[in-house]
Amino acid sequence: MTSLDDLEYMRKLDKSNMLQFLRRFPEDCRRAVEITKKADLSDLADLQFSSVVFVGMGGSAIGGQLISDWLRDKASIPMYVSKGYRVPGFIGSETLVFAVSYSGNTEETLLVFKEARERGAPVICVTSGGRLLELSQEGQLPYILLPEGMKPRAAIPFQLFTLVTALKSLGLIKDSWEEIDESIRVVSTLRDELVEEVTANSNLAKRLALELRNKVPFIYGSEFFEGVAYRFGTQMNENGKVPASSGVFPELFHNAPLGSEGPDEVLDPLGMLIIRDLEETEQETRKIEGFKAMFEDRVGKMVEVESRGKGRLARMLSVLYLGDYVSVYTGILNGKDPSSMEAIDKLKSL
Ligand code: F6R
Repeated sequence: MTSLDDLEYMRKLDKSNMLQFLRRFPEDCRRAVEITKKADLSDLADLQFSSVVFVGMGGSAIGGQLISDWLRDKASIPMYVSKGYRVPGFIGSETLVFAVSYSGNTEETLLVFKEARERGAPVICVTSGGRLLELSQEGQLPYILLPEGMKPRAAIPFQLFTLVTALKSLGLIKDSWEEIDESIRVVSTLRDELVEEVTANSNLAKRLALELRNKVPFIYGSEFFEGVAYRFGTQMNENGKVPASSGVFPELFHNAPLGSEGPDEVLDPLGMLIIRDLEETEQETRKIEGFKAMFEDRVGKMVEVESRGKGRLARMLSVLYLGDYVSVYTGILNGKDPSSMEAIDKLKSL
């Protein structure tokens, strides 16, 4: 029996209940919608925006990244994710800025938040507390208060659906509620297949964790899956405690293929995971197949996952949720508590 089917062992290792947070993911998505509907955004209702900037780091940046991928070819104004200390030059009084920090204390986010305010940008803070909450209350800015007590990476249902709901209520997302609702339903159905009680022989997330075991995961997907592939990789870092990389088609067709010519010692430890999706164009499908053929016999492991659902948001979220589970099961296979944070906290304190 794999340790992934030993519920007692898993729950002992999973000290801060990452598995519980994953289980309540769909309910948290709905809670995020409700929280945002109650937030007072009326000061912003009559403004015209020429761009949207999502400011955040790590887990708190993913929600914005997913939205900009989702609306890549649909948004009528640019939607940009700002990760880092430097403020995008174009931020001004017509830029809607979301300052997202689960803890409210992330230095890069606080710095950009302050600079954005000085430039007169309307800002909505999304946080569970900390300095960001204090600053938004002092400045009487609109804010969306997230529930406390989670690791930032486990708060993704809140970091995503607060932004989606706020943008929708400000008229900046035209897609129907049905598309948003479908994404939550798809995750809810997936949950029944991925929870820890479902044994490895019929649990896709456990199977993938076992297949990628002792490999360095390289996660690849097409344009709409850029943030999803990145999140998959960072969750493998954070929950799985392994190095990981991600990339996006078609850009990587222009560089990554030459890596297949590397020495066995470099390629053997790689576990390549390719995200497949129904919006792939014919050229993309042809090229993905060609790309796979180049690496199939070279890397230690090659696996594919298919997105689920009808709408784009649902399909993106289906792979994100699967990846979150794979990462937690990977951490458990590595004998680690998936929630641990020490190495990140150490760097933050420097
Ligand atoms: C930790 C995690 C990190 C944090 C990042 C920023 O679980 O996911 O990537 O999200 O260090 O911190 P916050 O989200 O508090 O601004």
